[in-house]
Amino acid sequence: MIKVSVLGLKNPLILSPLAEITIPPFRRICAEFGAVTISEMTYAKGILYKDPKSLRRITRAKTEEKYGIQLLTNSPDDLVNTIELIESENLSDFIELNLGCPKPKITNAGLGAYLLTVQNHILLKELLEIGSTSSKLPFALKIRAGFNEITYPEVIKIAEKAGVSFITFHSRLATDNYQISAKWGYWEQAVKYSTIPIIANGDIRSYDHACQVINQFGVKGVAIGRSARGNPQIFQKKPQLSSQYVYDRLVQYMENTEYYNLFNLRVQSSDFLKHFRYAANARKNILLMNKPREIIEYTREMLGEH
Ligand SMILES: Cc1cc2nc3c(=O)[nH]c(=O)nc-3n(C[C@H](O)[C@H](O)[C@H](O)COP(=O)(O)O)c2cc1C
Repeated sequence: MIKVSVLGLKNPLILSPLAEITIPPFRRICAEFGAVTISEMTYAKGILYKDPKSLRRITRAKTEEKYGIQLLTNSPDDLVNTIELIESENLSDFIELNLGCPKPKITNAGLGAYLLTVQNHILLKELLEIGSTSSKLPFALKIRAGFNEITYPEVIKIAEKAGVSFITFHSRLATDNYQISAKWGYWEQAVKYSTIPIIANGDIRSYDHACQVINQFGVKGVAIGRSARGNPQIFQKKPQLSSQYVYDRLVQYMENTEYYNLFNLRVQSSDFLKHFRYAANARKNILLMNKPREIIEYTREMLGEH
């Protein structure tokens, strides 16, 4: 059966998860501009054992109307139990298994993109079958083209047989770095191979670019990660608000939460200034500041000047 829509949406634009960056206040604001949002990758065990940091990370913000939780696991039992918990507590609208993370800490533990390797395909089949059948919510995947060699055609076939709802495809190998461009032709191949809706991901830089990718490659939607940093309005056709206004709103959402700290303020503020001519200097200045208000006032001033 050909699934025509993803989450009941025609061509969703998804905020691709960025660990430590797409924190709930940031997701909240992207959702306000129309993005489907997903939590940062979170260990299934962390959720099962109610680790406070994991629970904070997956907490859905008010405006996240279509929201998914992204899981890291290679244990079928943990996957089923986490899905059950997410469903029983009504924590999200869909569940996504991370098969893309390239970090050695993750892949050496047999997680993330390591599950794309041929020697893991039997385990992968078990995970995807159990994930799809035990979940009443859409069960989705985030994949890469492979770990250190291309395996996506086999992975997509396994996913199709298992009944996975949709796949977000970051079209690089896990062993590629960001200097190597995402291979956009892979999306086209993936669309041809399977009936599972494919969401394109990798180096998509604007709303218009997202529309172009959807039209050109036949994918059902697009996920944008790095280009959304400091630019939540990327999910809008015609951004109308000033950066300063959007930044103020983000700060407001961070205030009175555990995210209102120097680390998050430095990251988010530097992101808002990243397109400026003196961005590198601004980042250095921000790093030297030790009071949240100082960082906020400085960033506002810089944004106001441009
Ligand atoms: C700092 C950073 C953190 C990331 N964290 C995650 C994550 O938690 N889960 C995930 O699926 N992908 C993660 N990614 C990958 C991105 O979601 C995305 O797939 C990748 O950056 C390519 O898309 P882009 O070119 O739009 O950024 C991360 C990427 C970066 C740079």
